[in-house]
Amino acid sequence: METLSEMSQEQVVLLSVVGVLLALVVLTLFVLIQLLYALNMRLAKQAGEEEETMLSSFYSGLTDAVPIAKEDSILLDHNYDGIKELDNHLPPWWKYLFYSTIVFSLVYVLVYHIYGISPLQANEYVAEVEKGKAEVAAYQAKNANSIDENNVKLVSDAKSLELGKTIFSTNCAACHGKAGEGTVGPNLTDDYWLHGNKVNDVFKTIKYGVPAKGMISWQAKLKPIDIQNVASYILSLRGTNPPNGKAPQGDKMEPAAATGDKKVASL
Ligand code: HEC
Repeated sequence: METLSEMSQEQVVLLSVVGVLLALVVLTLFVLIQLLYALNMRLAKQAGEEEETMLSSFYSGLTDAVPIAKEDSILLDHNYDGIKELDNHLPPWWKYLFYSTIVFSLVYVLVYHIYGISPLQANEYVAEVEKGKAEVAAYQAKNANSIDENNVKLVSDAKSLELGKTIFSTNCAACHGKAGEGTVGPNLTDDYWLHGNKVNDVFKTIKYGVPAKGMISWQAKLKPIDIQNVASYILSLRGTNPPNGKAPQGDKMEPAAATGDKKVASL
């Protein structure tokens, strides 16, 4: 059975609209019957008729009311200072509505509490929260994959830098040294850069590589978010001056001003 939480927003809206329309139709019918009955009575009175029409018999079927002329038959035999009591029946429309609520409650208990065919509100809530979380995760994953050299940010939170460090140790340390001091590849801790020191430049170098010079392209192996993290990690190494630092290569560059928005948290 499809639960509310599995329905799309449009389906829920549609269901609500249908429900409201149905309630309106029932209400209109009810008012119409009342009006027609009142009109019928007035016409009958004007014509001096007392015989039953289809409408009046339908109406009395709903109410089971005893006509005033026959009230004597249901009069109870007590009389308090002229106040008497009629032993009227419960109106059938009300009685059957009441019975149907009993049936409904039985069905409800079976469906929701005994067989658990449909989840209770609390479970439905939990399911919806989980679905929401999955959607957020999917959105973030999608966003993480949409990072490129134009919108990459220099991130500085400990978690992202830690992730970046792990990627560096696994993939890059072989050529750039454990501390980024440089071996086959250049020293990444100094102020000299071959391909630029803005986070966008570093991202681009890592993504596309410099295959002709032995720096491979990483875009097939690392996710964009990983490249952002490792690029940010590399830039955080500036000035750490590790032992055995490789001689500078490239041009001396001041730390780039346009290094992205530091306030943006990692994804
Ligand atoms: C197989 C060896 C090798 C590996 C592995 C390697 N690199 Fe490189 N990398 C190089 C070489 C060689 C260069 C210099 C390219 C040139 O001369 O243009 C370089 C250059 C770079 C530069 C540009 C430095 C500058 O001065 O502009 C960055 C940034 C960089 N690598 C990051 C990384 C990262 C991040 C990884 C791991 C994901 C990595 N590299 C893995 C060999 C490697």
